[in-house]
This record gives sequence, structure tokens and C-alpha cells, in this order.
Amino acid sequence: MHGELLSKDFPAIDAIIKKYGERKEFLICILQDIQARYGYLPKEALTRVAEKLDIPLIQIYSVATFFKAFSLRPKGGHTIHVCLGTACHVRGAERVLGKIKRDLDINVDETTKDMNFTLKTVNCLGACALGPIVEIDGKHYGNMTTVKVESVLKKYSIKKME
Ligand code: FES
Repeated sequence: MHGELLSKDFPAIDAIIKKYGERKEFLICILQDIQARYGYLPKEALTRVAEKLDIPLIQIYSVATFFKAFSLRPKGGHTIHVCLGTACHVRGAERVLGKIKRDLDINVDETTKDMNFTLKTVNCLGACALGPIVEIDGKHYGNMTTVKVESVLKKYSIKKME
């Protein structure tokens, strides 16, 4: 389980920075350690790193966005991928996506407040005959409908959805 969001957590960030001798050339290592601790790179942490290493914040953001391994947003416990490729699209993928967005009250690339789900879209999951496909944590659910997707989400929910 990743640590909670900071604010008063600067000592932890400072300890990470200190571990690398407060040296700019270890910026990537520092960011990796922060991501390992929180599951993403919280804004407050990046601001602190900028201050301590005396690097412009914008430079840290450009490193953080360049490497795919870094995430600037918190990630939920379960990652949902909704396929919007042509085959899935013609079979109603948008309706399924709309239903998920409404049920979870998030948009694509967002995470639910309870940190349980992150919603993503993809262009093809390689199982077009079974479209529309929704993948959760790598498991494929085929022939999705708005009704079916609701019961699939329930399996992964922390608390029962109404
Ligand atoms: S288009 Fe959706 S799996 Fe290929």
C-alpha cells in the first residue's frame, strides 16, 4: 500500500533528497523514490525537491513527464482500460465508457476519490471479436453492455455501489 498524500510530510521527502546528497544529478533517483513511496509524484513533493535542489520546478516537471514510469496523478488500486478501437466502438464502447464514468463519477485519466479505480482508454486490446472489451487489472471482460459492466465493477468495488 502506498503512503498517503503529504502536506506535512516534508521530513520524508527531505530524507529522500538527503539520501542522494541533495545533488541535482540524482534527480531521477529522487523522483523514483518519491513515486515508490506515494505511487505517484505529488505536486507538493516536486515543489519541495525544486526548493532543496535549487532547480526550477518546470525542469522537474519536464523530467517527470518525459519518463513514462512517472505519474503526476495518484493511481487507484484497480486500473480499468476501456477499448475504444474501431471494432469496440461500433459495438457500443462509448456507451459502456459513459456508464463507467457516471457510476464512478470520474473522467478518463482520473482516479476515484476512494482511490479504488483509475480509468483509462486504449485503441485496441487485441480481442476485437469480443468487443466491446473492458480490461480491469489485465483481465478482459468481453461483450460488455452498460448492464454487464455494472456488475463487473461491483466485483472490484470497496463498498457496494447503489
Ligand atoms: S478494437 Fe477493441 S479489442 Fe480491438
